[in-house]
Amino acid sequence: MEKKQAELILNKYVKANSLLNHSHMVANAMKAYAKKLEKNENTIHDWWLCGLLHDIDWEVYPDQHPNHAVEHIFPVIELSDEIQHAILAHAPSRTGVTAESEMDRYLFACDEISGFIHAVSLMRPTAYDGMKVKSVMKKLKTLNFAANVSRNDIHTGVELIGESLSDHILFLIDVFQDAKQKNLIN
Ligand SMILES: [Fe+2]
Ligand SMILES: [Fe+2]
Repeated sequence: MEKKQAELILNKYVKANSLLNHSHMVANAMKAYAKKLEKNENTIHDWWLCGLLHDIDWEVYPDQHPNHAVEHIFPVIELSDEIQHAILAHAPSRTGVTAESEMDRYLFACDEISGFIHAVSLMRPTAYDGMKVKSVMKKLKTLNFAANVSRNDIHTGVELIGESLSDHILFLIDVFQDAKQKNLIN
């Protein structure tokens, strides 16, 4: 599926700016990691697509997310099994599917922390510019800050990709700075 077509289908199901922004943040995070891992162009695109569509049914079918998408949306758009598996595995408590493949593991690792870094960016006049890993780490320990973001999932995520939490955050701050500069995210 081409980039434009993927964005059209996302916009068909998601109207809230916050969820559209989250989708693009995770897409850019996945793309950047695929590049870091020296994947080929097709794979880099697939990782981007996986991030972009991972929450496509969240707004319309929050109780059935992401099972609704896998049953009713992805077959229509012929999304690959590999991407569908990663999307199922980002919500193991709802799907019973756990992260196995590299794509599964990176999606899980990028999802919650992207939401958290976005929450931190909203507290800063320069958003991601000049954001320090140390201050993100400190806010993670402040449990009433962005309380809906699962710290557990963030820690599980970094274990799944074998990164330290600080390196993961450092990498993503850089990705989001760049994406914001290009107006891909807020
Ligand atoms: Fe989700
Ligand atoms: Fe998400």
